[in-house]
Amino acid sequence: MKPVIAFPSRIGLGTSQFGDALGASMPEREVRAILDAAYGRGVRHFDTAEGYGDGRSEKLVGTILKGRAGVFVASKIGYVETAQRAVEAVDASRGRLQRDVIDLMYLHWPRKGRDLRPVMEGLERARTLGKIRFVGVSNLDVSQMDTVSTAARIDALQICYNLLWRWPEAALIPYCIDRGIAVISYSTLAQGLLTGKFPAHPDFRPGDQRPSTVYYEAPVYPHVHEAVTGMLQAATGSGMKLSQLALLWALRQPGIAGALVGARSVAQVEETAEVEGMLGSADDSRVIADRLRTLTEISSVAMRFIPETGNIFKYYP
Ligand SMILES: NC(=O)c1ccc[n+]([C@@H]2O[C@H](COP(=O)([O-])OP(=O)(O)OC[C@H]3O[C@@H](n4cnc5c(N)ncnc54)[C@H](OP(=O)(O)O)[C@@H]3O)[C@@H](O)[C@H]2O)c1
Repeated sequence: MKPVIAFPSRIGLGTSQFGDALGASMPEREVRAILDAAYGRGVRHFDTAEGYGDGRSEKLVGTILKGRAGVFVASKIGYVETAQRAVEAVDASRGRLQRDVIDLMYLHWPRKGRDLRPVMEGLERARTLGKIRFVGVSNLDVSQMDTVSTAARIDALQICYNLLWRWPEAALIPYCIDRGIAVISYSTLAQGLLTGKFPAHPDFRPGDQRPSTVYYEAPVYPHVHEAVTGMLQAATGSGMKLSQLALLWALRQPGIAGALVGARSVAQVEETAEVEGMLGSADDSRVIADRLRTLTEISSVAMRFIPETGNIFKYYP
């Protein structure tokens, strides 16, 4: 089945960096420069959440993108107990985003032991009231999606998916393909790993959440690093950076409607958003197609060493 949503760009700019522990002090002018650079390169999908910096990311996205043509804004609300509270959360996001209608609103995470249907009923009600256009879920498994689809029509699923996290290929992505649910990948660069910039023994700044992800577990990281080293070699001579090939790889996989990428600087977004302009032709050159095949092979080996922990953060709210 074909998804109902048509995204105006295949790449979406993730904006959690504007509100996270490391980005909280990012001045508005830097945020503006990152958004401008993405927009200037054809990115029209912007992904935020009420939870990013306690609304800071939504406010900045709202202020800076106000009035720009063709922008598609997606946001996320957290778990609430009633449909009414979900509608109120949507209204609060509309206020911060300065938009009458939010294009896509997700339920951000499930909540252990709780019925997710009331919040989904709330999102469906918000759609009926014209406050949002599409309803999405994020980080749900197949059985949770089955349950909540009695309460709302699900248009999109946002999940972690990249060359170093391919677990969704087993069941989640086929489920979405069958039902016309658009899959949007997050952490498409494995939080920067797929740029190849991290050494064998990475040293993160205080407050950086990355060391607690599955990738940096002692038995896992050597395999991740070896895989990325091989991927960097594969990218050499292709005319594209590994970050760009990794994004392109995600976008070429079945069921993937869009790929989110985060940035902490203009230089980063200039590099990744450039891929949007490379997507014009459906077919890749032979060189690129060969390199993408090599990346798949390396990734298949690496995946044997990356345990299925549900999500990369080992976060189970
Ligand atoms: N639904 C969910 O639960 C969920 C979860 C996670 C993310 N998301 C969404 O998805 C978006 C993207 O995911 P993400 O930020 O986790 O991971 P990502 O896009 O895989 O990685 C982003 C990070 O990679 C590094 N980077 C990006 N481009 C680079 C370049 N050209 N050169 C060097 N480094 C580069 C930067 O890290 P440094 O500069 O800090 O090293 C940046 O912060 C988020 O912003 C958010 O909107 C959603």
